[in-house]
Amino acid sequence: MDLKSIDIPILSYLSEGLFISGEELSNKLAFSRIDIERQIQQLTQLGYDISVDNQKGYRIISRPDILLPFEIKNKLTTNYIGQTVYYFPELTSTNAFARQKLLEKAEKVPEGTLFIAEKQSDGVGRLGRQWISPSGGIWLSIILYPQLAPSGMPRITLMTAVVIAKTIHQLFSLKVNIKWPNDILFHDKKVCGILTEMSANTGKIRWVIVGIGINTNNDLSEFPEDIQKESISLKGITGEAISRIAFVQHLCVEFEKYYEVFQKNDFSFILDEWRTYSHCIGEKIKMNAGGKVIAGEVIDISEEGALILKKDNGRIVKIISGTLLKQ
Ligand code: BTN
Repeated sequence: MDLKSIDIPILSYLSEGLFISGEELSNKLAFSRIDIERQIQQLTQLGYDISVDNQKGYRIISRPDILLPFEIKNKLTTNYIGQTVYYFPELTSTNAFARQKLLEKAEKVPEGTLFIAEKQSDGVGRLGRQWISPSGGIWLSIILYPQLAPSGMPRITLMTAVVIAKTIHQLFSLKVNIKWPNDILFHDKKVCGILTEMSANTGKIRWVIVGIGINTNNDLSEFPEDIQKESISLKGITGEAISRIAFVQHLCVEFEKYYEVFQKNDFSFILDEWRTYSHCIGEKIKMNAGGKVIAGEVIDISEEGALILKKDNGRIVKIISGTLLKQ
């Protein structure tokens, strides 16, 4: 786990506006001229188009849409969500990497830290399933330290689903649905999945990792056929590549807003929003809950985030964890 997050310090001094000379950069950042040139080279390799003038220095002509910490934090209006970012061209899994960091030293990982990977070689989905994560998607994990009992965890997943549905709606005027507990669907095809993990002791949560995978600009033909059939990307829906940087920034702002409400214990407001996006309230469904298939009508969602189901025999049951089956 010696991987180093990529950040390129000179980025904060380069702009599309005025040129800045190598000398000025090296004075401002206390780097040698060779270091400055190395960073310029690194940026070029990452896809930045940089104009180099022997007299005037450097100026950005165009930027790629890659999720470098500087680009995410640039003009980000949050207080803590997204203010610390670790970015990797490739990881096995952002959740696994974040977990390792937290196990090593949680106090060194501020609340709201993002772990982002351009691709994941061993992305993990719900129920231990594989989550295929080629480049072009958004694969990230957010670290939280909520004042919460472990039984409150499902609420974090519900809150995250609302935040993502809202972000997609606000940015693209698209109405997506939330499929309980953790999928975001557009016309029954999956755009996003959420995987929350936690560590707890003596009845209190120590930390939470909110893993979010969003099909944004990734090419779905890289998915196996069965997953391809059930998936859709934001690029596929809107017809053009989206700005992943703008998406992550918007997500951070919304996430912080909702998390603040959540911390004040006002979950009913979040639940009301969840209901408006719900895929299944009022629907007849079948679900696999702990290996048992239960059928009935979904009546509502409970304060703890459980589905309230009226079974075919009339009995009302609450389901805290399970998978909805196709009808
Ligand atoms: C699911 O729907 O099964 C949940 C998918 C969660 C995928 C994300 S991608 C970022 C983070 N890292 C992982 O390995 N998984 C989550």
